[in-house]
Amino acid sequence: MSGVPFGAVLDSVREGSFWMPPDASVTTQFVDPVFYYILGLTTFFFVAIVAVGAYFAIRYRKRSDADRTHPSAGSHTLEAVLAIIPSILMATIFWVGFRGYINLSVPPPDALEIRTVGQKWFWTFEYPNGMVMNTSVENAKLREEAGLETGLVVPIGQPVKLIGHSRDVLHSMFVPAFRIKKDVMPNRYTSIWFEATKTGTYDFFCTEYCGKDHSRMITKVIVKEQADYDAWLEEETKNSAKPKSGSELFAQGGCTACHSLAGVAGAGPALNGLFGRDEALADGTSVKADENYIRESIVNPTAKVVNGYAPVMPPFAGTFSDEELDTLVNYIKNQK
Ligand code: CUA
Repeated sequence: MSGVPFGAVLDSVREGSFWMPPDASVTTQFVDPVFYYILGLTTFFFVAIVAVGAYFAIRYRKRSDADRTHPSAGSHTLEAVLAIIPSILMATIFWVGFRGYINLSVPPPDALEIRTVGQKWFWTFEYPNGMVMNTSVENAKLREEAGLETGLVVPIGQPVKLIGHSRDVLHSMFVPAFRIKKDVMPNRYTSIWFEATKTGTYDFFCTEYCGKDHSRMITKVIVKEQADYDAWLEEETKNSAKPKSGSELFAQGGCTACHSLAGVAGAGPALNGLFGRDEALADGTSVKADENYIRESIVNPTAKVVNGYAPVMPPFAGTFSDEELDTLVNYIKNQK
């Protein structure tokens, strides 16, 4: 047994990485007991049934042709017991699960509401004061270089309601440490809530397969003390009021994931030297790459698809304001 790091296993159980992720929200109480109850129940019956089955198979095996010459009699009492007990247990599973589901669905009335927008392939969080946090991988990198944290930042001990929707396809908000998970979809809102109990940084995933860069649709939940949160929000609100540069908007949209500015073809064409060029399109026609073409290709990319590329770019209508679109078009225009 000397090779087994038993202490490490025990530690991971205690910290929650072996059975369950870390426990960092009051909402875990609606999920974990249900999980352990069902796990315990099914484990008990699995072991009991296999053990009794094995014992009977050996104890009552057919030893000779003289064994079991007539069928054994049935028992109505036994059958009734075997129907009633599992029914009661199923009802208890339904009850604890349903109660947990309802509790997860109804946030406390004083919850801080944060709108969560999913789009291919990043999350945007909109705070009640209008501050918008963009969490694309490229934007997070830029912000990290500037010493800024990126993610869903929330205060500890405060119920938070995430009101989600999607700008394109199905995505799903998932925070394992809070045991919360909810699909977001176009044309309707869904919501989920949590109340963080520990400061720290936790994963926030998209857990609905949503296309090419689904695996990059990942960010963090950062839980801060109330005072730190207030200071952070004030600072970010000031930052977000400043107009963004073209390169910042290019990063926010996650554009670099597919579009090189150095002449390398990716999932989409390279954008340097694009302006003024005649682009051959997939439908056999061609188009002069002017401001209108660039703008249309951001807002509604499948309208004119460049020959040799798949129509996979998501539409960015609604992602950028009119001013931001101007800045972005101008930025792309000037990539020589
Ligand atoms: Cu969004 Cu997967």
